Amino acid sequence: MKAIAIAAAAAGWLATSTLALEPLSIKGSKFFHADGSQYFMKGIAYQRSPLDPLLDKRQCELDAKLMKDLGANAIRVYHVDPAGDHTDCMKIFEDIGVYAFIDLDDFATYIEQDGPPHWNDTQLDAYTKTLDNFAGFSNLGGVFVGNEIITRSNGSFAAPYIKAAIRDVKAYMEKKNYERKIPTGYSAADIAELRPNLQNYLACGDDASVNVDFFGLNAYEWCGEETDYHISGYDMLNKNATDYPVPIFFSETGCNVPTPRDFKDQFAIFGPEMQDVWSGAIIYEWIQEDNNYGLIDYGRADPKTAVGGDSWARGGTPTPLPDFTVLRSVWSSVSPTGVSLNKYTSTNGPIDCPASTSGIWNVDPSSPLPTLGQTAVAAEASGTPADRAGATTTSGAAATTSSGTNAARRNDAMVQLGGGVVAAVVAAAALL
Ligand SMILES: *[C@@H]1O[C@H](CO)[C@@H](O)[C@H](O)[C@H]1NC(C)=O
Ligand SMILES: *[C@@H]1O[C@H](CO)[C@@H](O)[C@H](O)[C@H]1NC(C)=O
Ligand SMILES: *[C@@H]1O[C@H](CO)[C@@H](O)[C@H](O)[C@H]1NC(C)=O
Repeated sequence: MKAIAIAAAAAGWLATSTLALEPLSIKGSKFFHADGSQYFMKGIAYQRSPLDPLLDKRQCELDAKLMKDLGANAIRVYHVDPAGDHTDCMKIFEDIGVYAFIDLDDFATYIEQDGPPHWNDTQLDAYTKTLDNFAGFSNLGGVFVGNEIITRSNGSFAAPYIKAAIRDVKAYMEKKNYERKIPTGYSAADIAELRPNLQNYLACGDDASVNVDFFGLNAYEWCGEETDYHISGYDMLNKNATDYPVPIFFSETGCNVPTPRDFKDQFAIFGPEMQDVWSGAIIYEWIQEDNNYGLIDYGRADPKTAVGGDSWARGGTPTPLPDFTVLRSVWSSVSPTGVSLNKYTSTNGPIDCPASTSGIWNVDPSSPLPTLGQTAVAAEASGTPADRAGATTTSGAAATTSSGTNAARRNDAMVQLGGGVVAAVVAAAALL
């Protein structure tokens, strides 16, 4: 594609791109462009408006223009309206070479860790509506069946419900004879105790019909100047992923302590340490919010229309923040080459399903996946002997806060996890 575009531009007839962005393919643990070159994701978390940022053509144009300047080739969108018309925005991003990775779940349908976990028709129906809406776009990079469903080290009992969702979403594509199978994956919170069990569980065994096609990790371990490939723990992440049979990437990253961020982790991800194992990263996030992860801002919000009490505007003319300039410079100086499709043979065979370990990984690898309509009983959820009478069903209120943005929820989890990580980093540094 790149060669064609350059030749065409030189010939002067390609003022505006009319070439479709060919779908990505997956072989082994890597993504590939249609021309056989490896695809490394330089992505941006893009959730400008809580419900669907891909409906406003003018806004997509404004944002895409800057994203092109930034060097992005992917966006991740957490919430979309399955009934909306996304043609204009998807085309605008296609024209600048950006693939969209879309979360299929929504505020009302995500798989719950507490509650207790369940997977049902209503959820599957909502997921497949979103899938149907986006499947026709050649620059749909992939879909997530969930984001940070498991948020605690003792939350492993929810994992089979994630896998049940993958199974049913993939079966739906089979049944509907989708022209191409849309890569389907999961985006995990970074919980050290569950590493690498959750990651391996979602891709284990030899039945691809129930496995993720890719795995995303939301990790905020690499913070500032004082860290490096080893202190950050990235060496362990890499070790844990070396034999992974499908692509793995950071589905959120970008620790914001200190600011402006230096994004030095990108040199490791796209450099010799990790580029053979990882497929890139999605930086959290495009817009500025009170949580201070923005690459751009649109100015302050009109208090009357502010989202969830956040003081930042959700649309308008994007103005790059200092992080934007740093990231642009970092991304422009990394150029992983990877391998070409026809020279690549994956040696990562099927991996074993993790054995159940009391108190950590409460999933019996031999038990069948939940059926559609199944709800976890308290015994599964607590990992203790069956006691249905004592079922605890916590409300999951944290996940459905009035703010209406998943970011708030993510951020809470992030602060807790990030705090732990920062403490660990400080402790490690003190030992040196
Ligand atoms: C399925 O789960 C969703 C999301 O938790 C819930 O709102 C809905 O009521 C459930 N549907 C059925 C039929 O149980
Ligand atoms: C995975 O990483 C953890 C540290 O987070 C480490 O203790 C463990 O040995 C690694 N496992 C594998 C299989 O590499
Ligand atoms: C999981 O751990 C949390 C604390 O992090 C605790 O409040 C909760 O009761 C535990 N849940 C189970 C099912 O063990």
